[in-house]
Amino acid sequence: MANHKTRLAVFCSGTGSNFQSLFHAIEERRLPAEFALCLSNRSECGAIVFARQHGIPAIHLSEKQYETHEAFSSAMLKTLEEHDVDYILLAGYLRKVPETVVDAYTYRILNIHPALLPDFGGEGMYGINVHKAVLEAGCKESGATVHYVDPEYDKGPVLLQKKVPVMPDDTPESLAARVLECEHKLYPDALEKLLVGNES
Ligand code: GAR
Repeated sequence: MANHKTRLAVFCSGTGSNFQSLFHAIEERRLPAEFALCLSNRSECGAIVFARQHGIPAIHLSEKQYETHEAFSSAMLKTLEEHDVDYILLAGYLRKVPETVVDAYTYRILNIHPALLPDFGGEGMYGINVHKAVLEAGCKESGATVHYVDPEYDKGPVLLQKKVPVMPDDTPESLAARVLECEHKLYPDALEKLLVGNES
């Protein structure tokens, strides 16, 4: 259909700097996509504030609000359907996506991970923990990975990956900052690859 924009849901738990870089890239690169909603497990966080400021429906959805996991996953699925979502982008979402949602959106969920998967992925590997583990292992390089989400943590096929050097005097924080800067280009590149088949 002409002029159809792919409707994206972004799932976040924190600052939302990746969400912001995606939002700006869609405008700057004129990508045929729009944010249908921003969902967070936290009622207040940077991502939710940014969504509200930009007229994107901001939805707080947490498992704690529901008596059962099934009720929570049904509510998530209903929200996605109500907003006519085509793709889900996980951007610093520090919760596991319910299996029923992963099944309903097979190969339509992307995640960004702050390391070179398959290394330094899996349960507990998020945020600063990842960078601590990379430094403890004595790696000379790290990076970021955008991959499709399947029911196993950080195991889905890789869409795009980029390396950054690890410096001898790096702390987990300095490495995190270098990787995050790399993420801010990598995620828009991956989205562009997904939507229009090329990378800039
Ligand atoms: C990013 O570094 C992202 O890769 C990481 O959380 C940060 C979120 O930052 N995600 C994970 O560790 C997932 N396993 P942001 O809220 O500023 O985009």
